[in-house]
Amino acid sequence: MAEAKAPNQRGGHAEEVSAEALAEIGLRFEVDGEIATITLDRPDKRNAQTFATWSALARIGDNLPERVRIVVVKGEGPSFSAGIDLRMFTPEGVPGQGSFGSAARLDGPAFEERLRQAQSGFLWLRRPEIVSIAAVQGHAIGAGFQLALACDLRIVADDVKFCMKEPALGLVPDLTGTKPLVELVGQARAIDICLTARIVEAQEALSIGLAERVVPGDELAKAVQDKTAQLLTTNRDAAAATKRLLQGAAGRTLEEQCAAEGAEQAQRLRALFGGAS
Ligand code: ACO
Repeated sequence: MAEAKAPNQRGGHAEEVSAEALAEIGLRFEVDGEIATITLDRPDKRNAQTFATWSALARIGDNLPERVRIVVVKGEGPSFSAGIDLRMFTPEGVPGQGSFGSAARLDGPAFEERLRQAQSGFLWLRRPEIVSIAAVQGHAIGAGFQLALACDLRIVADDVKFCMKEPALGLVPDLTGTKPLVELVGQARAIDICLTARIVEAQEALSIGLAERVVPGDELAKAVQDKTAQLLTTNRDAAAATKRLLQGAAGRTLEEQCAAEGAEQAQRLRALFGGAS
């Protein structure tokens, strides 16, 4: 029997992308029990991302098996990701995917739809039912930085180099990264990081809250494995409910948050001990 999948945002189930199709795009996707791993796998091009990468990420999210609780996002080779494929800046663009020039010629609604599709590849990583962990080594530039920011946690190697390069190229970061960046490091630091397009290295990333942990490069996989094991020790429904509470906290008053805690707890108690539904 086919395994239950989390319904996608449109309430349906987009078709899964085959391993072969993912390989062509430069992605791997593996599920082992409650843990899913997405690997950016185009190391010879420093895991540069294209529109196809984001649309495949969205399809992976749409088809994520319900049993998955942890999603690890990592990059093969020396860099996590060098950001958007620089061919986008050329007149020819990325074969079959256009260029920034062709995107500039789209009308407002068509551009918005294309961007919404791209962003949907990142947004699902915040779902309450999962915890997403970015394992980041080397460069995480532009779209690479934003992919790391789309995850709940960032465990980084000591050679990590985060850079929000978009403003240096005349663009803005538009792949969902600006909100988590501000939430993690505060507005002043976010302005500094983005408007200088400077590199943030490991110790700074740790000290400003961009990374949860820094480890030597050869210990990155083990550190992610250990965090995954820790996260799997808690009750899955309680973990999802708690993540919902934490995600909603910034947008609520203290009184509203207290009420939200009560509502979630009432559901937990009913689930654990029975009672009125
Ligand atoms: N798009 C396409 N190809 C890339 C990209 C990219 N973003 N980044 C690197 N590559 C390719 C290089 O062209 C090179 O290909 P080649 O071997 O066929 O010549 C290969 O990857 C290796 O690149 P190097 O520069 O040799 O690797 P190095 O490890 O020395 O440097 C670094 C890595 C710092 C990431 C460098 O490649 C770089 O600066 N890349 C561009 C980063 C960038 O500006 N990204 C866009 C950000 S904006 C956004 O994402 C929206």
